[in-house]
Amino acid sequence: MKGRILVTGGTGYIGSHTVVELQNSGYEVVIIDNLSNSTAKVVDNIEKISGIRPAFEQLDCLDFQGLENLFTKYSGIKAIIHFAASKAVGESVEKPLLYYKNNLLSLINLLELMPKHHVDGIVFSSSCTVYGQPDVLPVTEEAPMKKAESPYGNTKQINEEIIQDTVTSGAPITSILLRYFNPIGAHPTALLGELPNGVPLNLIPYLTQTAIGIREKLSVYGDDYNTPDGSCIRDYINVVDLAKAHVIAIDRIVEKKQKEKVEIFNIGTGRGLSVLELIHAFEESTGVKLNYQIVGRRAGDIEQVWANPEHANNELGWKAETSIEDTLRSAWAWQLKLRELGIQ
Ligand code: WQD
Repeated sequence: MKGRILVTGGTGYIGSHTVVELQNSGYEVVIIDNLSNSTAKVVDNIEKISGIRPAFEQLDCLDFQGLENLFTKYSGIKAIIHFAASKAVGESVEKPLLYYKNNLLSLINLLELMPKHHVDGIVFSSSCTVYGQPDVLPVTEEAPMKKAESPYGNTKQINEEIIQDTVTSGAPITSILLRYFNPIGAHPTALLGELPNGVPLNLIPYLTQTAIGIREKLSVYGDDYNTPDGSCIRDYINVVDLAKAHVIAIDRIVEKKQKEKVEIFNIGTGRGLSVLELIHAFEESTGVKLNYQIVGRRAGDIEQVWANPEHANNELGWKAETSIEDTLRSAWAWQLKLRELGIQ
């Protein structure tokens, strides 16, 4: 056993995939989640895949005393992966205080408690949203942050700064900030995946729900951008590949291999795909025809962004491996599984 790791938001989409990879690599995992956007059933599915049942406590990271009790109950936690956060961009515009409270105070509580409980480091879920529309593509970690497009994006920027400032102040902790591009796909067993509440806002869940007939038509938001086919470009990263990056980051913290106390890595494929290219890749890899229409631009969308992942490739020895075809097939298998289970 390599040691005990706390995963906040561990029953969520990226969290659950990461728990499996941590277990596969020999870590003992404690999950906390307030279940605001996931269910405890996910713990059963994690166990089905890994053969190990992670400890699970329903707990909100805003609950300082609850966290204090947790660190006492599960003593010897070596590091934390902090996924727990509110993440709907549109909702954050309507309820900014909810987003600032949830996302900032959760992190602050953890940072306050880490030294007392001798936790070495924290991996933070950041996002390529901190770059806004980069001037240079592919974007590197050195690119300047642009003013956030939403309170949600702002919480990612502020949280990165909170971590930097805390470490600079001399707190006995280290951190790795992982800036994810667009995570998609599901576990190859179809036991874990993304489970959006209500009408999906992100492309892939909307696409698979359209393909299965829950939605009538996928709207492509704009074909008049300054890109080869006019639709927006993103770097779609397989969720299991993304999960594996977290295990390497945890190894690096636990084995004290960091070169700086706060390290930042882009986690993407290095390949940009347009919305239309993605639709065609889905049709080709699954054999399912998709009903879609071009509509107007969506407010706040970045025209194009994809990662330069060389820093993660060279320094972490991590690389995105899964093809976009396999990733899209996994997303489709997950959608079929949800129907089989009568969920969606
Ligand atoms: C991808 C592309 C859309 C839906 C957001 C957040 C980011 C993040 C991931 C969060 C865009 C187009 C979408 C649709 C479409 N993190 N699209 N029709 O906007 O790149 O990133 O989600 O948790 O921080 O900003 O992801 O999946 O919404 O959109 O044409 O019905 O698909 O315009 O070009 P986005 P997305």
